[in-house]
Amino acid sequence: MKAIVSDPLSIQDAAALLRAGNLCAFATETVYGLGADATNSNAVLAIYETKGRPRFNPLISHCADMAMALRFARFSPLAQRLAERFWPGPVTLVLPAIEGAGLSDLVTAGLDTVALRIPGHAGARALIAAVGRPVAAPSANPSGRLSPTSAEQVREGFGGTVPVLDGGPCEAGLESTILAVDDDRVVQLRAGALAREEVEAFLGTPVAIAEPNAAITAPGMLKSHYAPDAALRLNADAPEAGEAYLAFGAVPEDVSGLMLNLSPDGDLREAARNLFAYLSRLDAFGAKIIAVAPIPARGLGEAINDRLERAAAPRQ
Ligand code: TXA
Ligand code: MG
Repeated sequence: MKAIVSDPLSIQDAAALLRAGNLCAFATETVYGLGADATNSNAVLAIYETKGRPRFNPLISHCADMAMALRFARFSPLAQRLAERFWPGPVTLVLPAIEGAGLSDLVTAGLDTVALRIPGHAGARALIAAVGRPVAAPSANPSGRLSPTSAEQVREGFGGTVPVLDGGPCEAGLESTILAVDDDRVVQLRAGALAREEVEAFLGTPVAIAEPNAAITAPGMLKSHYAPDAALRLNADAPEAGEAYLAFGAVPEDVSGLMLNLSPDGDLREAARNLFAYLSRLDAFGAKIIAVAPIPARGLGEAINDRLERAAAPRQ
């Protein structure tokens, strides 16, 4: 790394790195992102190399404000309403791209749509504003590994080779909800940190969920993903001998051994925030099998169960 930055990084240091075409990881309210200038193809390529991503999935372009977002996508009145209600925040909108606006083709992966998000984390917005261009960022982890929710986890994941703008622990702890929006339809491509019920309550209509093989999908949704080293056994009311336990809510009295509780009070928001960090802590303790308590399907439980099912899927 060039000696143009101090340690720890300031927002201005991080912006200088990104403007010069380097990578820099940064905090958002969902998970840490591995950022690159979204208009610079060489910089975006470095994201794929650094993550070891096997193929080119389209990336989310993070914007500082609505003025920036409007330069890169066409907002229908419906998309405008969603943006006004939920941005800044943990939701990504997939919208028709404005051609020739300057985003690298590697960011859109040749699609005629673009995924945009204005993050809720004030430090992230200040960083993007200082860069002056959208910042492309997938989660800041080697491909197939757990998404990091602290600067420390980013450093560990990449062995200290990636500069990190430390913005504290992530408030939500799960990736953003992805919604594809056209003139009159909203389709959820990925469950995430904004519960589908909240979107439905705002719109007053149900939100469709993308079928796995439908025409509009989020191409990056691999079946096995977000994986810890340990094997997972889901919907376990109690651990069996030798298993670690990832609990939720009240725990049976006779449970002993290695255990972390996502939320002793059964709060799904708290469970979402703790999910990735606790899985990686159980890994660090050397757990071979992690039994996971049942998580209710309502609210953020949809996204938590989605991540758990991917983490439990056969590894690719
Ligand atoms: O919370 C988050 O969303 C984090 C933070 C850093 O913002 N980012 C993140 O990015 O999770 P990533 O690259 O892991 O996920 C982006 C998802 C992928 O599943 C990709 O396929 C989808 O967005 N995506 C991007 N552009 C798309 C498009 N034009 N159409 C459909 N899906 C798209
Ligand atoms: Mg990811």
